Amino acid sequence: MTTEPRSAAEGARRADALFRRVFGGTPRGVWSAPGRVNLIGEHTDHNGGLCLPIALGHRTYVALRARADGAVRVVSAQHPHDGPATLSSPVTPGRAAAVTGWPAYIFGVASLLRAHLGAADPAAAVPGAAVPGADIAIDSCVPQGAGLSSSAALECAVACALAAVAGADIGDPHLRSVLVDVTRAAENDVVGVPSGAMDQSAALLAAAGHALLLDAADGTATPVPFDTAAMGASLLIVDTRTAHALVEGGYATRRAECAAAERALGVRTLSGADDADVVGLADPLLRARARHVLTENARVRAFVEELAAPVPAPQRLGALLDASHASLRDDFAVSTDELDCAADAAREAGAFGARMVGAGFGGAVLALVPADGAARIAERITDAFRAAGLPDPACYPAHPSAPARSER
Ligand code: GLA
Repeated sequence: MTTEPRSAAEGARRADALFRRVFGGTPRGVWSAPGRVNLIGEHTDHNGGLCLPIALGHRTYVALRARADGAVRVVSAQHPHDGPATLSSPVTPGRAAAVTGWPAYIFGVASLLRAHLGAADPAAAVPGAAVPGADIAIDSCVPQGAGLSSSAALECAVACALAAVAGADIGDPHLRSVLVDVTRAAENDVVGVPSGAMDQSAALLAAAGHALLLDAADGTATPVPFDTAAMGASLLIVDTRTAHALVEGGYATRRAECAAAERALGVRTLSGADDADVVGLADPLLRARARHVLTENARVRAFVEELAAPVPAPQRLGALLDASHASLRDDFAVSTDELDCAADAAREAGAFGARMVGAGFGGAVLALVPADGAARIAERITDAFRAAGLPDPACYPAHPSAPARSER
């Protein structure tokens, strides 16, 4: 069975109701930001390469009201047993350990945003009056731990809400690119995950009906029309509901391995390496990691090229997804038995192609399926999970949706 995301009206209503119940009175407004799924280009954003995410219909909703005393109080419907968490003075990267768990994302954004107000470089300044303290209520339908960027959705919804309340125009493209930097810095320096900029870029810069081609080499973000219906296809997300612990390990280990490969190759980023030099790398593990980055960049280019065809062929796109999965499994070593099971079962059930998405070590698979086949393929994947003794996966449709915005 596939589950549609909550409607924007319902998401905003729930955040608003939580706010009134916990803080009393009315919020100044409700803002939201989407989760994302990456079509192709995995583990390339932290290697100077290409990726191609879409924003999801699954969004995080933030109801917010300014506070004069500068404190930040947060409550989340996803953590009903935690009372409101309070931050009374800004957190800095140096004392980031003082905030932990889900509030760290919000406190990190609130603190770093404030620092950008007085930025010495005018290009990095966030226009508007002071970013105030705030009462913040959160509700989200972005699946957590699924590799669908629930954390970036949270960071970006809070950043837009605070910037808007401070008087900034959150429709301004320049402000949005500053917010990408602020939210990524919160994730890197406060939460402690050394991620690339893909997730925050997707949440803030994506466009409905489009994928977003991101080039980490020069920071460009280019919308690419993406219409699955026109090619007789649709996207199916299969959440294996197996945990991935980004902070704890695998992601940072892969980053360290990529850095070692860069040193061995004498390049600044792996995307700048020559194929022939990579083939000649003595260490087989570093060779495999570098090979993944180069072949994955080539697959992103081929995917975008296919999307430029008058009617893109889902078979060709699917073959690129399959090749991406094989490379992430064999060369980058971030897949799991559950992810392999979901991708294999999707293909056997008639998907054009399927691959694991996000950082890996658990999470979700994205399948490109015939438009009339999503429900049947979801059932067949569930059957395969049961046969393998695994808990049922959760399946969702994915449509290229709108970026962070004001809801009311
Ligand atoms: C996580 C990170 C992203 C990206 C992906 C892997 O989602 O947050 O920056 O590196 O993993 O492609």
